[in-house]
Amino acid sequence: MIKAIKMENKERQTFGNVPLVRGWDFKPSDYADAWKNGTLLTAQIENTNICNCDCEYCFRGGNPPDKDARFGNEITKEQLLQAIDEMSNLGVRTINIIGAGEPLMDKGLEGLLAHISELGIIPILATNGSRITPDLVKAFEKYQTSVILKLNSLNPELQNKLVRRSWFAEKRDYGLRLLLEAGFNQPNENYRTRLGINSIVFQENKGEILDILSFCRDNNMMPVMSTFIPAGRTKERTDQEVSMGEFLEISKRARKMDREKYGIEYDKLLPYLGGVPCTQCGKSSIYLTISGDIFDCPGQLHSYGNIKDTSITEAFKQNKSVNGNSEFSCPPRLDYWNRTHQFVQLENI
Ligand SMILES: C[S@@+](CC[C@H](N)C(=O)[O-])C[C@H]1O[C@@H](n2cnc3c(N)ncnc32)[C@H](O)[C@@H]1O
Ligand code: SF4
Ligand code: SF4
Repeated sequence: MIKAIKMENKERQTFGNVPLVRGWDFKPSDYADAWKNGTLLTAQIENTNICNCDCEYCFRGGNPPDKDARFGNEITKEQLLQAIDEMSNLGVRTINIIGAGEPLMDKGLEGLLAHISELGIIPILATNGSRITPDLVKAFEKYQTSVILKLNSLNPELQNKLVRRSWFAEKRDYGLRLLLEAGFNQPNENYRTRLGINSIVFQENKGEILDILSFCRDNNMMPVMSTFIPAGRTKERTDQEVSMGEFLEISKRARKMDREKYGIEYDKLLPYLGGVPCTQCGKSSIYLTISGDIFDCPGQLHSYGNIKDTSITEAFKQNKSVNGNSEFSCPPRLDYWNRTHQFVQLENI
């Protein structure tokens, strides 16, 4: 049974002055309005199963990441574009391309970004960054894409070990440099940044989390940092995870540093450290996998069938009937921490 984390006052539900990437920078009232009006705010989609890495913690299931093979049951590009059109009709404002493998392995990525952007939707791309080229950066610019890049360690040896590729850190750093040179981390009057860093917090990198957070703050990049999602390779308990209590302790230290060194104020410690809210689960969002399965979010707590048998609109209607998550927390992680008897009340840390 999930114990809800009680917020003492409404203020705690706001995001303070936390810098968020374009497309992730909704106000609490945007969520409330979307919920009230029955509109979709954000969605997560997948464009390829293929990946050039083999991360020990990867949440995607199915084929070994290395294999070029597509899943037999993958949806076609046409089905994906149709689903996006349906999301657009439901009012979606941001579409996150999150895998299932490495989105840059998909030769059709540019067309996908164009389709999303032409509908007036903001694309956000999660990428391991190792295949970014100057031409791709131009395409990201043209289609006003925000980018969230994998960075699990500032130590190249550890980073390479985690993704099981000896060449990775050098190529990812080149990609990051191109994005910085193109100004993706520069604020303007409409947004704080278009660049984020995704770093899972686990045993092997927990000692450098504050350094990674500083790296983000110093370069105006939004940190996306939390524990494992209970899915794929980390669905069951692993000896690499940090416990909920450990994560909250690290998050508290991060918040102290944010307040004292960067003047960034927030109360929330979940689901991401650094005061970053989840824009995705259970409020006004939907997740469509490469196989056409529809879930509430990558934590896959609730399943709503497959687009081969049901519509996005019908699935979204069902999603709204079971989920609230008005606390901007992470129901799949809370469920996991309860199941594995490691739940701690926020007041107890
Ligand atoms: C599935 S990956 C796809 C994009 C790209 N291949 C990458 O790794 O950046 C999307 C994001 O989920 C993160 N991720 C992968 N497995 C995870 C897990 N078990 N728990 C939490 N996040 C995970 C990745 O680090 C990445 O930032
Ligand atoms: S986390 Fe991303 S880069 Fe790593 S194996 Fe999974 S899909 Fe590939
Ligand atoms: S609810 Fe949790 S698992 Fe789901 S998208 Fe948000 S942070 Fe990720």
